[in-house]
Formats: sequence, C-alpha cells, structure tokens
Amino acid sequence: MEYNTIHVEASRSYDIHIGRGILNEIGSLIRPIVGDCRLAILTDSNVDELYGERLSGLFDAAGYAADKFVVPAGEESKCADNLLEFLNFLADCKLTRSDAVVAFGGGVVGDMAGLSAALYLRGVKYIQIPTTLLAAVDSSVGGKTAIDIPAGKNLVGAFYQPSLVCCDTALMDSLAPEVYRDGCAEVIKYGAILDKELFDALAQMPFDREKVVTRCVEIKRDVVQKDEFDNGLRGLLNFGHTFGHAIEKMSNFAVSHGSAVAKGMVVAARMAPLCGLQDVTGEIVALLQQYGFDLTCGYGADELYDAILSDKKRRGGNITVVLPKAIGNCVLVTLTVGELYTKLKEVLG
Ligand code: GLY
Repeated sequence: MEYNTIHVEASRSYDIHIGRGILNEIGSLIRPIVGDCRLAILTDSNVDELYGERLSGLFDAAGYAADKFVVPAGEESKCADNLLEFLNFLADCKLTRSDAVVAFGGGVVGDMAGLSAALYLRGVKYIQIPTTLLAAVDSSVGGKTAIDIPAGKNLVGAFYQPSLVCCDTALMDSLAPEVYRDGCAEVIKYGAILDKELFDALAQMPFDREKVVTRCVEIKRDVVQKDEFDNGLRGLLNFGHTFGHAIEKMSNFAVSHGSAVAKGMVVAARMAPLCGLQDVTGEIVALLQQYGFDLTCGYGADELYDAILSDKKRRGGNITVVLPKAIGNCVLVTLTVGELYTKLKEVLG
C-alpha cells in the first residue's frame, strides 16, 4: 500500500508512517525495528472497544505475543496511579529490555506509554499508534512524554523518542466531531506558526487528511530536529498553549485541549499588537470560527495569570509566550511576569 514516511533524526532516529489503512501493515512495519519480541499495549476504553480486537489480531497474525492494559478514556487517566499500575503490569508481563511498549490511542495514552517506556528498566522501546488527529499531528511525534499531577498538566515527564510512529488516518473516521475538531486546532496552529500556505489551505473544508497530517508532522519534525530538548525554537509549537493550558486547568479539563488551545491562540493574537507586532487576530479568529470553535476565553486576567504562573514554561521571573508576527510567522517573546499581567489585563480586562 502507499503511505508517506517522514524520518526524524533526534537522540533516537525513527520513521513516522502516515496512510489510510496502514494499521494492517503493523506487523511488517515493526519487525525491522523491534525484531521478535513481546509487546505490551496501552490503550483506552474507547479505542479498545472500537479497535482493540483488530490490533491484537494483527499482532497475533504477525507472530507477536501482545498483552494489553486498558485505562478509562479521558485526561484523568494520565495520572501517577495509572502510571504505576502500568509499570507493575509491564513487570508482571515480564517485559525485558528487548521488548516494547505500544501506545494505541490519543495523547493521554501516548504520553503515559512513552513515560512508562522511558522509566521501565531505565528504557524500553515504544511504538506510537495515534488514533486521534491531535495525537497524530502533535503528541505522538517528538518524544515529549508525561503525566499530570494535581499542580498541573504534564508536570512530570521525560523527553523520550518513540522507535516508530504508525499513523492510520482511517482510525480517525470514528472520532466524535468535537474530538476531531480538537485536532483541527493543532493543525491550524501549525499553519499559523510556520506555514501560511497550510493556513490558507485549511479554509477549504474538509481538508485532505493524509496530506495535512503529513505536512504538520514535517513541520514538527523540522522543529524537533533543531531543538529536541525544548531550549528555544521548540517553544514555537506552544502557540496558544501557555494560555490554553491555563484555561484547561481552570476548567478542570471540562474545556478540551483543542478548544483551550483555540481560545489561547486568540489571547496570544490579541496580545501581539501590545508587544509591537502586527495584529492578525481577525484572520486567526475567522479560521477558528469556520471550524466551529467557541473563542470566548471564559476567564479574567487575574485568574489566567495565576494559572499561568504554575506552568512549566515559566523560567524564574520570566515567561516566554508565542505571538504571531504574521500568519505563518510566530515568534517567541519573553515577558516578565509583571509585563504579562499588564498585557493580560489589556487583552481580557
Ligand atoms: N506539543 C509541543 C511539543 O511537542 O513541543
């Protein structure tokens, strides 16, 4: 079958395969990477119900023994208790250093499987099989792994690259419209930060999923290769996230990640002219509204500021935010927390 392959050169180099129906090839795709080994699948209850048997059948047919651990679907599952339970499960399955973990699901599963793989036996290989648009274009690529703790989202984690990413875009057919839309926020983000052509093309709905996922992954690959450990440039991928994470947290995750990022991108766009940059709020708002996002922030400057202060992106008394200079050209702007507060007041009142 035909599919696109993107190669990532990082602390661990790997391929990302993207194609409709590519899951059927999973056995032959992983064999050159993991050889004959035991697999431990981490998935969630929704994905398991829809595709669990199919994946187990594919591994079985390819001669792989695969044990499966299922967590309830939802962000609450990305917690320390489940991480520890899964690590115990890996030990119970007698996984060795030559075996591999498989993340089969969205960002929750991918992040937790990746962190487990980094920790178990001080590191085993893991394969990402993203099932949501959001995971396909963001969390399954680039090696950021984490769990949430009460103080904040993704506060405990590691940089640990997968050994392979297999992205079957057909799996996204079954996503609820609002879950698919969540991924669209990330796709729009890539256009806004680095690719005006992509941004403009997204006005044609529905977009060509394979083409767009491939382009987003290429953009992310290029950034990750230059700044794998998030010391500068990679921060651009956080457009909308500093404000979005704060909104997500304050809503107790009732506002989904994509919706929060959409709101966050608008806050950032409104802040840009206050930092001497061009005002592209209109274009960003128009595209996000076309995709059906509610762009009301829902929180005041004081609330947002307090939530942002506990974000891991803060360094000492400064915080770096990503602001649009033009569509397809975002920049990193470092503000003191005092400046951030003043600008938030101006944006949100
Ligand atoms: N999700 C942002 C990053 O991977 O750096």
